[in-house]
Parts: sequence; C-alpha cells; structure tokens
Amino acid sequence: MVARLKSRIATKFDDEIRFLKGVIAGPKTVGAIMPTSARTADRMASIINPNSGLRVLELGPGTGVITKAILARGVKPENLVSVEYSASFVSHLRERFPGVQFIEGDAFNLAETLKDFEGEQFDCVISGIPLLNFPMSKRVELIEDLLERIPVGRPVVQFSYGPASPVVAKPDSYQISHFDFIMRNIPPAQIWHYRKTVG
Ligand SMILES: C[S@@+](CC[C@H](N)C(=O)[O-])C[C@H]1O[C@@H](n2cnc3c(N)ncnc32)[C@H](O)[C@@H]1O
Repeated sequence: MVARLKSRIATKFDDEIRFLKGVIAGPKTVGAIMPTSARTADRMASIINPNSGLRVLELGPGTGVITKAILARGVKPENLVSVEYSASFVSHLRERFPGVQFIEGDAFNLAETLKDFEGEQFDCVISGIPLLNFPMSKRVELIEDLLERIPVGRPVVQFSYGPASPVVAKPDSYQISHFDFIMRNIPPAQIWHYRKTVG
C-alpha cells in the first residue's frame, strides 16, 4: 500500500519535471505550467463511449495525464490514437502506454498527421492543445476539421484557462457548450464541448 503510494508520487513528480523541461524547450507549444490535474482529465474523459466500437482521438497528450484517464474510462490501448508534437514527450508516452498509437505530428495538419486514418470516424476528440496560443482562424479550422472526423452529435472536448470559449461562435457550423469549471487545476480550467450543427 505504502510502496504503491510512493511509486505514484514518484511517477507524478517525474511527469512534472518532464513537463517543466518541455515548457522550457517550447513554452508556446506546451502552453501550461503544470500537467492537467487528474480531476480535469477524468472529467474530460467522462464523455467517451468506450462501447461505441470507434477509436478515440486525443490531441496534445504531453506527459499523459489525460491519456491515463482515457484508458481508465475503459478504452483499450489499441483504440486510442494520440497526436503529439514534441518528440521527447512521444518517446516517453510510447514507453509509458504500450499499445496506444502515438503519432508524432501537428494537430493543425491532420490531413498529413492522420493520413493512415483517412475516412475513419472516431468516437470523440479529447484535446489538450493550447488553443489560446494559436490564431483564431487556425482554432476554428481545427474544430471544423475535427468535427468531420466524429459522428454528428459527438463532441470535441477541449480545456482552456480563459473565461470564455477559446473558439469563437460559428452557429452555422458548430454548437458550443460549457461542460465544467475545475478549480482543482493549476490554473483553474474550463472544459468546452463543440458539436456539429445539424440541418
Ligand atoms: C497544455 S499541454 C497539455 C498536456 C497534457 N494533455 C496535459 O493535460 O497535461 C499541450 C500539449 O499539446 C502539445 N501540442 C502543442 N501544439 C501541438 C500541435 N500543433 N500538435 C500536436 N500537439 C501539440 C504540446 O507539446 C503539449 O504536450
């Protein structure tokens, strides 16, 4: 019991150090000072339907806090596809989560990054991309691209540190809903859902 607790604390500490190194190497790309809290990660993963028969798409896994929550939701490792820009995070993730398909690539160029999954529908998208660090036109393009890759009615889930949705409203194209506000996160985080507009 004590040994397990010690090992969990050591893993968390290792992840925080690894994350901090990532921040130093690319502050704008990482876009946070700490990994997301387990509470935020669990809330983000709670929308997944592990029985949909579709794979889940994750963006920006970092050191894997949300990846862990997705797997804990009952998604088999081979049913998770996860896109990460940083090579050093990717090599750590591959060691930590065997069986998950980590793709080293750019979430803003999914045609290339997900070329092996062309035409595939995912159950939903769970995104940790620091959207606020990118121009609004790219954020909107990303959401619209992602919504083509999941069934109508299913969400793109995104966390953000600002008070408002990190993506502007575009009601003809997608609907925005606020899902949760998590105080137990550094800094406190909002979770947003984006769904394709029907009709
Ligand atoms: C705010 S951190 C979130 C990390 C982790 N999901 C968490 O919640 O702790 C953002 C992550 O997105 C990755 N990232 C940033 N831009 C990206 C891009 N264009 N394509 C793929 N990953 C990207 C960063 O390398 C980093 O791992």
